[in-house]
Amino acid sequence: MKLKTPIYSFVLFISIVLLTSWSGSKNPRMNLLDEVILPKPVSVTASGSSFELNANTKIFVNGKSVALLKTGHYLANLIKPATGFDLKVTSTSKKPNSNYIYLAISSLGPEFGNEGYKLRIDEKDVSIIANSPEGIFRGIQTLRQILPKEIEASAQQQKSWLIATGEILDYPQYGYRGAMLDVARHFFNVGDVKKYIGMLAAYKLNVLHLHLTDDQGWRIEIKSWPNLTEHGGSTEIGGGKGGFYTQEEYKEIVRYAQDRYITIIPEIDMPGHTNAALASYPELNCDGKAPELYTGNKVGFSTFCTHKESTYQFVGDVIRELAEITPGLYLHIGGDESHVTQLEDYIPFINRVQDIVLANGKKMIGWDEIAHADIKTNTIVQFWVRLENAQKGVTKKAKVILSPANKTYLDMKYDSITELGLKWAGFIEVESAYNWDPSALIPGITKKDILGIESPLWTETITNMTELEFMVFPRIIGHAEIGWTSDSLRDWDDYKVRLKKHSDRLKIKGINYYAPDVIFKAEF
Ligand code: ACM
Repeated sequence: MKLKTPIYSFVLFISIVLLTSWSGSKNPRMNLLDEVILPKPVSVTASGSSFELNANTKIFVNGKSVALLKTGHYLANLIKPATGFDLKVTSTSKKPNSNYIYLAISSLGPEFGNEGYKLRIDEKDVSIIANSPEGIFRGIQTLRQILPKEIEASAQQQKSWLIATGEILDYPQYGYRGAMLDVARHFFNVGDVKKYIGMLAAYKLNVLHLHLTDDQGWRIEIKSWPNLTEHGGSTEIGGGKGGFYTQEEYKEIVRYAQDRYITIIPEIDMPGHTNAALASYPELNCDGKAPELYTGNKVGFSTFCTHKESTYQFVGDVIRELAEITPGLYLHIGGDESHVTQLEDYIPFINRVQDIVLANGKKMIGWDEIAHADIKTNTIVQFWVRLENAQKGVTKKAKVILSPANKTYLDMKYDSITELGLKWAGFIEVESAYNWDPSALIPGITKKDILGIESPLWTETITNMTELEFMVFPRIIGHAEIGWTSDSLRDWDDYKVRLKKHSDRLKIKGINYYAPDVIFKAEF
């Protein structure tokens, strides 16, 4: 065809443009801004179309990183149950033309750190780019939330797996975003702990602190002091049979968490909260007599004998064995509620324990009472109840983890009719758990002093996963957002709408969450 006039060329040009855009838009139109992502990302830009995940989609990993390949397989396994797709994971340098999910390490700005990522969804492919495999893993959790909610089903679903196109840029405001599980008051087995880790990973948490010892039970095998678990692990609150993790089982938990970029922080609580140890070894008591095992829920009545040299031999063995099986940087030594230890005994005890932890190549974390001791600048104070302890810690140049009991304690009842839980720190409704800013919590403590936040679940009244889920969800999702999303992007009225929408996913996951009508039956 010979084009005679400019008007013909113009018409042809327009037709080509229209044809191209028409053929390109065969994918259903979707708006990425309609999707709920918890915690809320730094920025979301929508481009109005969709990508369809299907049985031929490939997961394509750039480079030879073993960690990245593993994360690619994690994604394939995540997608498989609900879709039935057995997605191939490859690390060749030849990218397919289309229909792939691309995972790649590439340098993003410093604000992205280790955990930030850029997730881009185009009509033909999806890519997650990050500075490290950890960032890719966090990005996968976002991808998961923008897939149809049925992706959370454990059995195969018949549907098309469309994802809205656009770009998400994201990174956390705090580097430490944790949960704590008390496995001492009631024991939770390896399977339960793994299940919990899986739930935490979905909201980009990166720490699980295990409260391994208390008056009612010692839950970690120490080979040089076997009676700790033989005897000290044999019961729990209410007189049940208790239990403990062998070192091999603990390592299995650590590995499972590592694959989800979650650090396990083990806690051996001392010098108080030690009845289970005192009952197992008489020499740890000042009078040389072992007390009975304890199955009640009182606190503050036990203490190691801080004057005896043998106590430090014991602590040295426990910390050494624990450090050997803990790849994470931190060991938690408790230090709370030592009501029957005199302050003049408590301070030198904590000082010596700190030296032992440091000599084993770890940093020490303790509950806020440890701020009374001569803490080093790399020791971390976990605030739970006394503002002045946290402030004292910061004066000593320690960083703090925020676990305000009246905001983050997941064992506090929601309201006066919650059957489970305690209420000494007050009721914590979903709104109260969400509606606070870490850097405005304690006078004199600013963002630079704060490592992050942690949500403890003490288990005096919590005996199984159904009960755990009810106390944890949905409050922990709010805590995850406080830790990740900058204060300026957070707002309760916006959050409650997103949470309600997100609850469809909790239902499909089978999580037993608390669902007050004011949020979950409201018309927003
Ligand atoms: C604590 O709740 N005793 C740290």
